[in-house]
Amino acid sequence: MNAVAPECATQVLARVVENVAVADRTYRLRLEAPGIAATIQPGQFVMVRTTRTIDPLLGRPFAIYEVHGDAIDVVYLVLGRGTAELATRRPGDVVSVWGPLGHPFGASPGGNVVFVAGGIGQTPFLALGRWWMGAASYGGVRQTNACQSAQLLYGVRTATLAAGLDDFARAGIDVELATDDGSLGHHGFVTDLLRARLERGDRPSQIIGCGPPPMLASLSKLVAEFGVPCDLSLENHMACGFGACFSCVAKIRQPDGSIDLKRVCVEGPIFPAETVVW
Ligand SMILES: Cc1cc2nc3c(=O)[nH]c(=O)nc-3n(C[C@H](O)[C@H](O)[C@H](O)COP(=O)(O)OP(=O)(O)OC[C@H]3O[C@@H](n4cnc5c(N)ncnc54)[C@H](O)[C@@H]3O)c2cc1C
Ligand code: FES
Repeated sequence: MNAVAPECATQVLARVVENVAVADRTYRLRLEAPGIAATIQPGQFVMVRTTRTIDPLLGRPFAIYEVHGDAIDVVYLVLGRGTAELATRRPGDVVSVWGPLGHPFGASPGGNVVFVAGGIGQTPFLALGRWWMGAASYGGVRQTNACQSAQLLYGVRTATLAAGLDDFARAGIDVELATDDGSLGHHGFVTDLLRARLERGDRPSQIIGCGPPPMLASLSKLVAEFGVPCDLSLENHMACGFGACFSCVAKIRQPDGSIDLKRVCVEGPIFPAETVVW
C-alpha cells in the first residue's frame, strides 16, 4: 500500500481564536483556518501540532466538532503531553493544522439516527447531527434525505466530564446520559441505554458509535444481536495522519472473511461495526 495524499488537505498555520474550558480537563479550541473550514465534513479530522517546541514532534488527531465561518472548532480532553501543551495556547497564538483528513460520514440515512458516545467520543456528533438533520451544510454539501431526529446516548465516567450538552440541545439533538459513578443520568454503561431502546422495539435507521475500544466492542455485539446498521468512528493512535507510517492500523474483516489491516487515517476513520475485529 502507498501513502495516500488526502485530496484537498492543506497544512496551515492557524490563529487560535478561543481555547476555553467546557468540562473537566476538556477544552474547545477555535482555530482560524478558512481553507479547512470551507471543505471539511463531519467524520473527518485534523492533525494539530503546537509549534512553540519540537516536543511533542507529532501532531495529534481531533475530530471536527463544528465550523463557524472561517473557523473550525475541536473539543479535546487533556490526556498527555500533546493535549496538555495545547491547553496552554491562548487567543492570538498560532498552531499548525493539517486537514481535512480521513473520509467523512456518508449521505444521511433519513429516519431517526442514534449516536453512541463514550468519553470524548461525542466530538464527531454535533456537526454530524446538524448535517444529517439538514440544519447545516459542510464542505458545500447539504443533505437531501434529512433525518427526522438525532439522539445522542452519551456515557462518561463522571458528571464533570460531560461536555457540550448545551451545544447538542441548541442543535435539537436529544441527549441521554450515563455515568459510571451514577453522578448524572443512568448509573451504568452507555450501551445499557441503547439496549433498553432496542428492547423497547425502537429501531433507528442508523447507529454511529465513537469512544474507547471496549465500549465499541460491546456496542458491536449489541447491534449484531438486534440487527441494526451501525458504523464506528475509530480513534486509534496516529503518528502521520496521511497513510505513511501504519501506526493507526485496525483489523478489518473483508467480504471474503479474511482479515486485513486498514489504516484508520486514510481508509477510515469510519468502518461498519460488523467488519471491525476486536
Ligand atoms: C480520528 C481521531 C479523532 C480524534 N478526535 C478526538 C477529539 O475530538 N477529541 C479528543 O480529545 N481526542 C480525540 N482523539 C484522540 C486524541 O488524538 C488523543 O487523545 C491525543 O492524541 C492524545 O495526545 P497526548 O499527546 O495528549 O497524549 P499522549 O502523550 O500521546 O498519550 C497519553 C496517554 O493517552 C493514550 N492515548 C493517546 N492517544 C490515544 C488514543 N487515540 N486512544 C486511546 N488512548 C490514547 C496514550 O497511550 C497514553 O497512555 C482522536 C483520535 C483520532 C485518531
Ligand atoms: S498511516 Fe500514519 S497515522 Fe495512519
